[in-house]
Amino acid sequence: MNIGLLGHGTIGIGVDRIIKKRNDMKVTRVMSLVVDDEIKGRLAETIDDIVNDPEIDTVVEVMGGVHPAFEFVSAALKHGKNAVTANKALVAACYEELLALAEENHVSFRCTAAVGGSIPWLVNIERANRVDRIEALGGIMNGTTNFIMSAMTNEGADFSETLKKAQELGYAEKDPSADIDGPDVRRKLNISVNAAFGVITSEDEIPTYGIRSVTAADVRNASSMGRTIKLIASAEMKDGVISAVVEPTLLTSDDLKAAIPSNFNLVWYRGAYCGEQCFTGQGAGRFPTAYNVVEDLVDIQAQHPGFYTEGRKHASIDNSNVLRSYYVRSAASDEYLASVTETVCDGYVITKPVRVSEMHEYLKKQTENGNDIFAASL
Ligand SMILES: NC(=O)c1ccc[n+]([C@@H]2O[C@H](COP(=O)([O-])OP(=O)(O)OC[C@H]3O[C@@H](n4cnc5c(N)ncnc54)[C@H](OP(=O)(O)O)[C@@H]3O)[C@@H](O)[C@H]2O)c1
Repeated sequence: MNIGLLGHGTIGIGVDRIIKKRNDMKVTRVMSLVVDDEIKGRLAETIDDIVNDPEIDTVVEVMGGVHPAFEFVSAALKHGKNAVTANKALVAACYEELLALAEENHVSFRCTAAVGGSIPWLVNIERANRVDRIEALGGIMNGTTNFIMSAMTNEGADFSETLKKAQELGYAEKDPSADIDGPDVRRKLNISVNAAFGVITSEDEIPTYGIRSVTAADVRNASSMGRTIKLIASAEMKDGVISAVVEPTLLTSDDLKAAIPSNFNLVWYRGAYCGEQCFTGQGAGRFPTAYNVVEDLVDIQAQHPGFYTEGRKHASIDNSNVLRSYYVRSAASDEYLASVTETVCDGYVITKPVRVSEMHEYLKKQTENGNDIFAASL
């Protein structure tokens, strides 16, 4: 297998170094903005240098972002090359188009590393669907926020100082919004929903609330209830209706997810036959993520094309039947919160079960109005 590598950053270097130790595949061309000794002699100036190279049969995209990644991967598929990516933004936005192009051109498109880093998550969803029907899935899909919530829980630290520490350790980006506000998890949940339920959904339809406003007091309040706060993704397919949501959740201490440390992930699905299955491991990082990229390349060599969903049909996310109780700490009381409050505690309230979409609308408005508020489902 001869590979054209698009991007030579954190993951690209990892992929390149793992492949150098193998004799069944070779990275022959590299597209990179920086040319160093590792790349010398292999630089591709433009995507044409790769897609028009008859020796290259497979492209690995690890540049990130939707554009020009989409144009580059599309060009590769149209030129009859297999494509592997770790780029969740690309897959969440362009899954349908890329799968269709792969099918039309009789090549493979795989994206296992896009969700869960090193964890064999999408591949096991694919395997489960050969025999079983996945009914629900979810978990901790973002290492940065898990690192923050674990440190706040274990050390009683504040959000801002923990975020700073995560940035110093390289677990959080300089602009941490995609992690702490939830879009990264929303993308991974959307890809997982598509793979598990055989549908195409829009990530924009998934209500998403992050951990930006969590405080040490929230962590203490949760602890006094015997609970731990984590940012949790969840989705279910029931009677043909798909629900999905990303939100902080107060987990009981017997919940496995409550014990997931540092920047690790835990993802799970429930099959009608196999019951609940959990997978945990490194959800990010150079070699853990590059590992799953190379696993995809090995699968392509073994003729596993990796169309994670075959009968793709468009579907909507519909949370209208999902009711949850919420922990809400709000600096200002208001009519809505008073109308749904079941228990008033010192500094926070617990609501009666309310519609998830209704609570997310409320939280969005409160946040836009600058109210100091944090909420988590129970
Ligand atoms: N890092 C992780 O742990 C992890 C885990 C799972 C999935 N992923 C996904 O893997 C992908 C790569 O992530 P990463 O962490 O490796 O990012 P990264 O370190 O920023 O590497 C991306 C590389 O691609 C280069 N690049 C960007 N646009 C390019 C272009 N048009 N032509 C040539 N080179 C270009 C960048 O150059 P410049 O830096 O000069 O812009 C950079 O060197 C992303 O989609 C990410 O979501 C990452």
